[in-house]
Amino acid sequence: MIIENILNQAYQKLNNSNIKNANFDCEILLSNIINKKREYVILNSKKILGKKYVNIFNGLIERRKKGEPVAYLINEKEFWKEKFYVDNSVLIPRPDTELLIENVMKYTHRDSKLRVLDIGTGSGCILLSILNERKNFTGIGIDISKKSIKVSKYNAKKLKLHNRSKFYISDVDNFLIGKYDLVVSNPPYIENTILKYLDRDVVDYEPKLALKGGHDGFSEITKVINRTSNLIKKNGLFFLEIGHRQKKKTIEMLQLKGFYIKKVLKDYSKNDRCIIGTKI
Ligand SMILES: C[S@@+](CC[C@H](N)C(=O)[O-])C[C@H]1O[C@@H](n2cnc3c(N)ncnc32)[C@H](O)[C@@H]1O
Repeated sequence: MIIENILNQAYQKLNNSNIKNANFDCEILLSNIINKKREYVILNSKKILGKKYVNIFNGLIERRKKGEPVAYLINEKEFWKEKFYVDNSVLIPRPDTELLIENVMKYTHRDSKLRVLDIGTGSGCILLSILNERKNFTGIGIDISKKSIKVSKYNAKKLKLHNRSKFYISDVDNFLIGKYDLVVSNPPYIENTILKYLDRDVVDYEPKLALKGGHDGFSEITKVINRTSNLIKKNGLFFLEIGHRQKKKTIEMLQLKGFYIKKVLKDYSKNDRCIIGTKI
């Protein structure tokens, strides 16, 4: 069967199941199976593909039809400057979180030697992206999920950052080790009651532990702020990702815990997304 026909059939199936970006998803899935770039399947649409590949591809299309995210189907997600291994035990890194990395770069110096703590590290994407950019930094990632720590350790090896990073299974409440120059966190911040209204790709497939922020969305944010106020050094920097209606209350909590608010960052949709504080 030729690539063009394989893609067209798959596109129809995804389109009929109301999958957004059906074309893009088909091209990514097929190129991944044959280990080529997306451009290859577009530029070689008349090439014939063997039955083995077609069967594997159709299997993935059936899963995508039900809503399973492409990143889980190909076990990969690009974030900042690298490709991270992901599976359904970790949140799929989001482009909005790159804002945090961009600003860590703005607020830290390339040659300084900082100790970083990433609370709720998931795939490790935040900590590892920072360490990749800042060769003298070292860091610890913690997560309550045992499975996610396996993934972050795997990514640290994959990116050859395992000598400068450590990952621990721990509830943020119980983590007492060390003092840090820089603390970063993208905690779960979605109100439990609105979880069911999210896209089915998210709610049916991504780990609830990575999404659920308690009845008001603040349960994990509160824990992260409380613990950080003890773990961060004086004048240390704290980068905290939040939901777009959580700015006011989060700032109040931070100030109560002795943080000066340096900046609130907006994401690509102009929603408040990240607060930068410093411990005074
Ligand atoms: C929104 S995800 C962020 C994952 C990753 N840092 C990212 O930005 O893609 C939140 C993470 O916090 C972890 N988590 C939830 N509650 C926690 C707790 N009490 N202590 C430590 N980690 C927690 C979840 O397992 C999940 O990996």
